[in-house]
Amino acid sequence: MAAGNEEIGTVISSIDGPSPSALDVVIYAGILHRGQFVEIDYSEGRMVCLVTDVVKTNRYFERVESVKEFERAGKKLFEQFPTSEWEYLVAKTRPLGVYDKGLVKRSTFPPSPGAKVKVAAKETLEDFLGLDLEKGLMLGEIEHHGVSVKLNLSRLFQKHLAILAMSGAGKSYLVSVLLEELLERKKEHGRLGVIVMDAHGEYRSFAEPVSDKKHTDFSSKSRFVRASEIQIGVPKLSIGLLAALIPGLSAPQKRDLARVIERLRKEMKDGLGPFDFNAVKAEIMKDSEMKEVTKMALIGWIMSLEQLHLFGKTDAPSISDLVKPGQLTIIDLSDVIDLKKKQIIVAYYARKLFDERRAKRVPPFSIVVEEAHQFAPERVSKEGSISKHVIETIAREGRKFGAGICLISQRPVNLSTTAISQCGTHIILRVTNPYDLDHIKQTSEGIDQRTVDMITSLRTGEAIIVGEAVNYPVFFKVRKKTVQDSRHEKSLEASALEFEENREEARKELDDLL
Ligand SMILES: Nc1ncnc2c1ncn2[C@@H]1O[C@H](COP(=O)(O)OP(=O)(O)OP(=O)(O)O)[C@@H](O)[C@H]1O
Ligand SMILES: [Mg+2]
Repeated sequence: MAAGNEEIGTVISSIDGPSPSALDVVIYAGILHRGQFVEIDYSEGRMVCLVTDVVKTNRYFERVESVKEFERAGKKLFEQFPTSEWEYLVAKTRPLGVYDKGLVKRSTFPPSPGAKVKVAAKETLEDFLGLDLEKGLMLGEIEHHGVSVKLNLSRLFQKHLAILAMSGAGKSYLVSVLLEELLERKKEHGRLGVIVMDAHGEYRSFAEPVSDKKHTDFSSKSRFVRASEIQIGVPKLSIGLLAALIPGLSAPQKRDLARVIERLRKEMKDGLGPFDFNAVKAEIMKDSEMKEVTKMALIGWIMSLEQLHLFGKTDAPSISDLVKPGQLTIIDLSDVIDLKKKQIIVAYYARKLFDERRAKRVPPFSIVVEEAHQFAPERVSKEGSISKHVIETIAREGRKFGAGICLISQRPVNLSTTAISQCGTHIILRVTNPYDLDHIKQTSEGIDQRTVDMITSLRTGEAIIVGEAVNYPVFFKVRKKTVQDSRHEKSLEASALEFEENREEARKELDDLL
C-alpha cells in the first residue's frame, strides 16, 4: 500500500482532465483507495487532490462479445495472453487547492499530463487540511495516511456542529468520542461545559465509576440527571417561554398572564418566597381586570401543564450546577414518553443556558441534542414545537456568546433547515436514503455528487467532515472510544434471554411457595 511520499503514478490525459476541477492518474506503483489524497508538484506549486474514485481497466476485457467467446466452457483462451499485464488502475481525483510557499490557493490551472503523482505526505495533509496538532480534539484517523484527525475546538464548536447519518451508522459512538476529548482537555487549552440531551439514555456510563483497567473513568467529571428528578421553578419561567408552552394563547391573554406573574414576582421579592402554579391559579382567580373566560382558559392550560409533573417553586438542579468547564451533564430523557415534556425540558435548559451565557454567568458551552429532529422539526404541527425556536435562536446567535449547539439526527430531512444551515461544521456518516442524501447535498457545503456517492458506501464508524473545522472535506475513521459501554443497552438476544430467565425464576419461586 502506498503510504509514504513515494511516486505512485502519472497524470493522464482524459476526457475532462487534467483541469482545475478534475484530474485522472494512472497508478503504476502500489495502490490507492477512495478518500485518499495525492500531491503533484508543478509550476503553480504543490497541488493536493482527493481521490474520489478508483477504476480498474483492461483492454482485453473491453469487448463483451470477445470476452464471452474466449471464456466459453473450456476454452480458457485468456490464459494464453498476458492479460494481467494490461490491467490499469486509474484514480479519479478532485483537485482541492494548490499549496505555494505556505499559502493555499484555489486550483485554477492544471498540471500537465505526464506530471508525477505522489501519495500526499503526512505533513502536507496536516497543514493543508488545517488540523490542530498541538491541542485539537482527536476524533480519528485518515485511513491509509496515518494522519490523526485533530480538530481545533473553536473551529469545530463555535459555529455549531451537526452529526448526520442513518440509524446505526455510528453517530452516538462518535459523540462519545467527542465527549471524551472534551472531558480530557487541559485547562490551559480552554474547556467547554457540555450538556447532553440524552434521548435514549446512552451516555449514562460516563457518570459511572469504572472497575476495570481497560476503560477510562469519567465519573468525576460527569453528572447524570434523570428527567424524573428535574423540577422547573415557575418563577424562573419567562413569559415568552410560558407563552410557548401554551398553544393558542392570544396576545391579550398573554398580557393578562404576564400581569399576574409580575405581581407574584414582586411579592416574591417583597419576601413572600417563590411561587408555584397553585399560586398562579389563585392569583388569576383574584384578578379583577381579567375576563371570566380568560380566567377559565388560563386555568385550564395551567392544569394541563401541572399534569406533566415538571414544575415547582424552584429549579432542581440549578442552572449554574449544570455547566462547568470541562464537565459533562447528561440529562436522561429516556424515561419520558410525552414528547411535549421532553421538548419543555430541552427548551427550558437551552433558553436558560443561553441567557446565562449572554450575561457571562456560565462558561462557554455546547448543548448536544440527540434526535434533534424531534426538538427542532422542519415542519411543525399546529401546536408548534416548544424547543424549535430556542434551538434556532442559539444556532443563529449563539456563536457571538460562546453558546454552541450540536445537533444529532438520523432524519436530516425532518430537521429544521434554519438550524442545520447555521451549523458551520457537518460530520456525515453513512446515509443511503436518497431523500436524505439530496438534502445533505443541498445543506452541506462542499459536497458534490461524487462525494455523495462516497457517503453511501461508508462503513459503520467512517465519516466525512466538511465545513468550518477543516479547510477541505476529509474522510476519516472514527477512533475507538475508551469510555465503558453502556450497561443499560442490551442486544436483542440478551434482552430475550433475560426475559425468559426472569420468568423461569418467578415460576420457580411460585412453585417453592406452593
Ligand atoms: N467507530 C466505531 N468503532 C466501533 N464500533 C462502532 C463505531 N461506530 C459505531 N459502532 C458500533 O455500531 C453500532 C451503532 O452505533 P451507534 O449507536 O453510534 O449508531 P447511531 O448512528 O447512533 O444509531 P441511531 O441512529 O440508531 O442512534 C454500535 O453497536 C456501536 O458500538
Ligand atoms: Mg444514536
